[in-house]
This record gives sequence, C-alpha cells and structure tokens, in this order.
Amino acid sequence: MKVYIIGAGPGDPRLLTLRAAELISSCPVVLYTGSLVPRAVIAMARANAEVIDSSGMTLDEITEVMVRARDANQNVARVHTGDPLIFGSTAEQMRRMEQLGIEYEVVPGVTSFSAAAAALRRELTLPELSQTVILTRAEGRTPMPEREKLGELARHHATMALFLSVTLLREVCESLIPEYGADCPVAVVYRATCPEQKIVRGTLGDILLKVRQAGIKSQSIIIVGRTLTANDFADSRLYAPDFSHRFRKAKVRAE
Ligand SMILES: C[S@@+](CC[C@H](N)C(=O)[O-])C[C@H]1O[C@@H](n2cnc3c(N)ncnc32)[C@H](O)[C@@H]1O
Repeated sequence: MKVYIIGAGPGDPRLLTLRAAELISSCPVVLYTGSLVPRAVIAMARANAEVIDSSGMTLDEITEVMVRARDANQNVARVHTGDPLIFGSTAEQMRRMEQLGIEYEVVPGVTSFSAAAAALRRELTLPELSQTVILTRAEGRTPMPEREKLGELARHHATMALFLSVTLLREVCESLIPEYGADCPVAVVYRATCPEQKIVRGTLGDILLKVRQAGIKSQSIIIVGRTLTANDFADSRLYAPDFSHRFRKAKVRAE
C-alpha cells in the first residue's frame, strides 16, 4: 500500500503526466483538493473508487483517510493542483505519514507559474537581464519570514512569480515599485490553461486598475520583471557559433 502525492497540473487535464493519469485511474481511493483540481481529472478515477474532496477536511481527517486505506491495504491517489511541493501544504501530510509509517511517493506536476509563463510565451530567464526566478507570495494570513519580505526580495531585480497574491496586488505593487520601478512590466494570468484563462498585462504602476477592471479576484499568478517585455537581450552562449560544449564543437574561432 502506498499514498501517491500527485501533481495534477494547472487545469488542462492534458497537462497531467502519464504517471499521474495512470495512478488517478487505478487507485481505489482518490483524495483531491476540490477547490482547485479540475473535475475532468477526477473523472478519470475508476468507477468503484472512493473519491473524496479534501477541501472541507482538517489535517487529522485527511490523515484518517490515509490510515483507513493503509488498514484496508488500498493505494491512495492524493491529488494536488500544479506541483504538489510548491505551496501545496503537502509537507505536513508527508510528516504525518512518516510518523505513522505509511509509505508514500511524490509525482511532480506542471506548476502554475510555468503554465503562466507558457501562456505569456515569455522565457523568464534571459541572459544578462535575469537568471533567477523568485517564487513567492505576498504576506497574508501566512506570515513571511523577515528576510523574505517582498521589499527585501525585490532588491535582486530578478523575475518574480507570485502565488496566492492577487487579492493583495496593491500591497505587492507598493512593495516592489521602490526597487523595480513603476514602469516595470507585470502580467497577471488567471486560471492558466483553463478555458476561462485571462491575461492582463501592464506595469507595476497600472496593473491594479487593469486587474480590477478584468474582475480577477483569485487563482492567478503574478509575474513581475523586465524579462516579460525585453527584446534587446543578448543571445545565449549555447547556440553561439564560437562556443563549444559536450555536444557541439565551435564552428568558428572566438575573436
Ligand atoms: C495553494 S497554491 C497551489 C500552487 C500549486 N501547487 C502549483 O504548483 O501551481 C494555489 C495558487 O496557485 C496559483 N494557481 C494554481 N493554479 C493556477 C492556474 N491554473 N492559473 C493561475 N494560477 C494558478 C494561484 O496563485 C493560486 O492562488
């Protein structure tokens, strides 16, 4: 018996991994985060599977499901949105399973920030502009560690992807403007890869109004940084004719 902690991807069921689809359609117990995992994914469960929405459950109740499945020798597909290890609240579930001696495995998924980047068709790491992506969130009911306040993180000027923060967009912009500047490009992607996906583009100075006008209040990724609009970045060294690497010899000599 095993619990499989599965990433269901950002919404489009075609972005499930083959492994995720195989497990969801074969496990006798499917426990899913109902607030976010799409119905089409859960519809893959086998007809006689016990399918449980965990959105109204406490950690103790979730653990009880796993203990019951362990006692009945039944595998569990524990389905989370995006990738289960990014803002997934999976660490506490894994800790419980370790304490109880329940075997588990993690199946990664397509995280929503990469789905958002794909929707925008922008590479988030560009030579000489930003080689770092900061995955973070605005401070809400979950306090941020002191050294990870947005104003602190902003000092790097790296591309930033914010989860769980669209309702705090005003605070996000106020924290970032002093470092990134009010003209810094921002995009908000609502429900990336879903039929109702919306993209709002702007700057730190005007995005709040645009997002309000679009009526977006939840389930969005905010991406901030000059990689969103830059076109004058240097070509990477990877394809440069004077650059050799393990798989290709330089075609011309370096000057
Ligand atoms: C509890 S977190 C889960 C993140 C998830 N584990 C992941 O890797 O994408 C929920 C947040 O993820 C983001 N999110 C999840 N799915 C999304 C989607 N399809 N489009 C945009 N943002 C999404 C939103 O910021 C949302 O508030």
